[in-house]
Parts: sequence; C-alpha cells; structure tokens
Amino acid sequence: MKNKHRLLVRQLKKFCPNGEEIPEEWRRLFEAINAAYEASDEDRRLMEKSMDISSREMFQVNQDLRQKEAALREALLRLQQTQQQLIQSEKLASIGQLAAGVAHEINNPLSFVSANVQVLERYLEDFGRIFAYLDKNRHVDTADAESAAGYIQELNKLQDEIDIDGITRDLGELLEETRDGLERVKRIVHDLRTFAREDKGERETVRLDKVIDRALSIASNEVKYRAEVVKDYAADLPPVRCSEQRLGQVFVNLIVNAAQAMADRGTIAIRTYLDEDRVCAEVADTGQGISQGDLLRIFDPFFTTKPVGMGTGLGLSVCHEIIKNYEGDITVTSEVNKGTTFLVKLPAGEET
Ligand SMILES: Nc1ncnc2c1ncn2[C@@H]1O[C@H](COP(=O)(O)OP(=O)(O)OP(=O)(O)O)[C@@H](O)[C@H]1O
Ligand SMILES: [Mg+2]
Repeated sequence: MKNKHRLLVRQLKKFCPNGEEIPEEWRRLFEAINAAYEASDEDRRLMEKSMDISSREMFQVNQDLRQKEAALREALLRLQQTQQQLIQSEKLASIGQLAAGVAHEINNPLSFVSANVQVLERYLEDFGRIFAYLDKNRHVDTADAESAAGYIQELNKLQDEIDIDGITRDLGELLEETRDGLERVKRIVHDLRTFAREDKGERETVRLDKVIDRALSIASNEVKYRAEVVKDYAADLPPVRCSEQRLGQVFVNLIVNAAQAMADRGTIAIRTYLDEDRVCAEVADTGQGISQGDLLRIFDPFFTTKPVGMGTGLGLSVCHEIIKNYEGDITVTSEVNKGTTFLVKLPAGEET
C-alpha cells in the first residue's frame, strides 16, 4: 500500500507502534479500509462542493429577490401616484362637468342681484330729487303760512310723483332678496372651493351630513330639474375620520349618478344612520336601475353606459378606492326600472 490515508496511518500507529509490517493476511482488509476512507473523503469533497454551489445559488436567488422586491416597491409607489392622479383627474372631470351647472347656479342669483342694484340706483335718483328739493328750499320761511303751504304742497307732489310709499315698501324686500342672492353665491363659491382646492387627502374629523349637504349644493344643478331630494339624517351621528374633500367627491358622484339615472322626475332619498360602530349613508334613487350584468362592472374604471362626453366611467371606481382607503365599504343594490341604492359604511371616529 503506497498512499495510505491519514486516518489509517493514525490507526496503524496505534496498532503497530514500532513500525512493524502489516501481516500479509491482513493487508487486503487494510486496503479495503483505506479505500473506504478515500471514498468517504471523495464523498465529503463532493458534498462540500455542491453545498458551496447551492449557497452561491441561494445568494444569487436572494440577490434577485431583493432586486425584485425593490422593483415591486417602486411599481407600488408608481401605482399609488397614478391612483392619486386618477382621483385628482376624476375630480377635475367632475368639476368640469359640474362647472356649467355651477355657473348657472351663480348666474341666477347674480342676475337678480344686478337687476335689484339697477332698481336701487333708480330709487336713489328719486331720493336725490327729494333731497335736492329739500336742499333748495332749506331757507323757506315756514313762519310765513303761504310760502310754507306752497313748500309742503310741492313736496307732497314730488313724493306722489316718485311714489315714495311704494319705494319704501319695496326697499326692504329688495335688500333682503339681494342679500339672499349674495349669500347663495357666497355659499356656492365656498362649496366649490372646498371641493376644488388641492387636497393631500389628509384625514380630519368630518360630519357626514355636512359633507352630503355640500355635495348636494355642488350638484344642485344636476339634481333640481330631475329629482326631489328627501333627507333623513340621524341625530347625534358620530363623525368620521376622512378627508372632507374626498368624501365630498364620493357623494357628488353618487348624487350626480342618481340624478342622471332618472328617466322622468324622481326622488333621491338620502339617509344616514349608525350601524353598531359604523356610520352609514344611503343614497337611494327611483331611477332606471342597473342590470345584473352591469352591476358586476360598475366599479371598474372606465365602465360607463353614458354617451361620450357625459361620463368617463371613473366616478364609482374612484368612490370605491376612496372608501376602501378609509377602511369602509361601498355596496349597491338595484332593480331595473325601480331604482338603485348605494350604501357607504365608514368606521365611526371619536368626537373631538
Ligand atoms: N344610480 C345609478 N343608477 C343607474 N345606473 C348607475 C347609477 N350609478 C351608476 N350607474 C351606472 O354605472 C356606470 C358607472 O358609473 P360611474 O359613476 O363610474 O361612471 P359614469 O357616471 O358613467 O361617468 P363619470 O366618470 O362621469 O362618473 C354608469 O355609467 C351607469 O351605467
Ligand atoms: Mg358617475
């Protein structure tokens, strides 16, 4: 045996401490042991090699996974940004759609306010004539009966001519109407600004009925020729923690959809209530309803049954996204030719 395995050498040293030759009859046995040692060494080497390869492979897989995770993270971020843009652009689209209505809403009070101002100007001119007369006759000798009578007579004539009683009666009404008109314009502009301002979607404590009223006011031009609105708001409803604007966007969408679903004039019933720890708002219309097939698709982006230019089909998908984001639910039930009810449920927030 030329190349003895080191373990065998160690064993032999114990067995033959003085370097005695291995007896011939044992030689074959020792050769077999030597071969077994070598085979086991070879096995170990192979195992180490394959472990090395798999650990290198695992390292590579790990590396790939890390890269994929980073790519996914970036994709998610981009998706979130796109979603933000979608919400923003849907809002802009609905503002665009509502703008004509809002212009009309503002135009109406504005035109009677400006008509009233013209009437007021005329009245002011009439008053001016009286003041001019008073001014001109400021030195009339009232102790002299004749000139005093002439003065009074002329003044009465002027007052009759101007119809001072009529003006005085009219003035209060005119001013009240003007004030109302200006209030309406102010409210519309305020509602629109709340809706249109750039929003970061930050959460605040929001009262649902206030949000719904604001949405109704923004959508009023879409609604008023098509539907009666019946409100039934629960008293003492807890607030919700949402962005007021985004929630407003949801209700503007639901209300406009409801109004646009009316074939003839109908009713939109809006109800709020508390269901355990969820604040609920129901928007129920008596419109044309939604078929079973369409019901499965209405929350899909770009699904619309409206003519081109009327709808982008984004409204409900954005509503869904917004409500889901606030750990809420939006569900729908509908019956063709009877009407549709959307139900929004949100977690009740704490009073602040
Ligand atoms: N109240 C409703 N009654 C009947 N159909 C409805 C109602 N609400 C939604 N739908 C149906 O769901 C579709 C999708 O609504 P969604 O609000 O997403 O888009 P849209 O109203 O068509 O367009 P927009 O982007 O302007 O809102 C509508 O086209 C309509 O067919
Ligand atoms: Mg819509």
